[in-house]
Amino acid sequence: MHAVPTLDSSTLDEAASGAAAGAPVRDLRRVPIHPDNWYPLAWSREVKRGKTHGVHFAGEPIVLARTESGKVFALEDRCAHRQVPLHQGVVDGESIRCGYHGWTYDCSGKCIDVPYLGRERLPNGVRSYPCREVEGLIFVFPGDPALAETKPLPPLASVNDKAYKTRRFGRAVKCHYSFMHENLMDMNHQFLHRRQMGQMRARSLGRRRGEGWVEVDYTFARMEGKQPVGEALVFGQNRSSGGQNDKDVMTIRTEYPYQTLQIRTSDQTLVMNLWIIYVPLDAEQRTNRTFGLLSIRKPGIPGALDLAWPLLVWFTERIFREDREIVEAEQAAHDKQGEDWNHEVFPVINELRDLLRESGATHLTPRGEAHTLKDETWQPLRRVART
Ligand code: FES
Ligand SMILES: [Fe+2]
Repeated sequence: MHAVPTLDSSTLDEAASGAAAGAPVRDLRRVPIHPDNWYPLAWSREVKRGKTHGVHFAGEPIVLARTESGKVFALEDRCAHRQVPLHQGVVDGESIRCGYHGWTYDCSGKCIDVPYLGRERLPNGVRSYPCREVEGLIFVFPGDPALAETKPLPPLASVNDKAYKTRRFGRAVKCHYSFMHENLMDMNHQFLHRRQMGQMRARSLGRRRGEGWVEVDYTFARMEGKQPVGEALVFGQNRSSGGQNDKDVMTIRTEYPYQTLQIRTSDQTLVMNLWIIYVPLDAEQRTNRTFGLLSIRKPGIPGALDLAWPLLVWFTERIFREDREIVEAEQAAHDKQGEDWNHEVFPVINELRDLLRESGATHLTPRGEAHTLKDETWQPLRRVART
């Protein structure tokens, strides 16, 4: 995998990058996320021992169950008998028993008991999904199960490093996942956060692109006023006004379908490490559930970060709320217009948009099979009848 170094520029002529002359450009807001990846669908604590938990991936109902032994598995949330949600059933030992007539499924989705039928006459079961529990997250592979083993789970911020304290956060946001990627990568939206951050100016140092990823570096300068305490905790300390002294570099990377944001000081210490993913919930992919892990390097004074933690939570929540409101407004505008009128002028965001278009699926079948641009020419998102 080779990075393709490119010079950053603010010229407008790259705004249409990626679109071959005359070729139709897909409306990014209608590009389904590619299912052949690991997606977190719940926090571990949401799936209690001996209980079921219903979730969704891009309109597909999925039931997560934690068995008596503590193992988690994922099945289609739809009984093979009369299609009622299996999450309304009960966990029975290492299997799920449907709440209606008691058909029972094991962790592979196989029907292992119908209370009123002989064992030799058992019907077909339901679809199962590869499922792994890591660092408090339950990951499911909603695409082609044969590919699950070939795709590694992503590195999750600095959750395993004792030098860091990690905040886990998440929320549902009413927008297509692409707006979320653009929002985090485009640091030229500091104006939105002026009430929280004061007057900051981001300077893009350059961008890089490789197979399946794009990243950009920024530095920040405070143009006016004092650094708020909450910001000092999250973004590093001692940024006074004047715009001269800032040496910290922020790198934001979309490595499809995940996103990271890292801040390093001039001596290369990683002071902040964020991993985040936006999982589509509905079939139209107009709502996503965000799962984020924010690791902050502990300062030299023991316990100082723990003390400051509530302030950090409060500060980050206020920032996220502003981001959520604005991306939901973008989605609402798109829906009203019925198409993408986006006039993007920042080259890295155009590269990101190309990456998300190319990496997405053209459409999904209800069984999660994906088609990509590489397979065929573009066609609009359509529902494929269930067979
Ligand atoms: S609907 Fe599930 S057992 Fe009948
Ligand atoms: Fe923001």
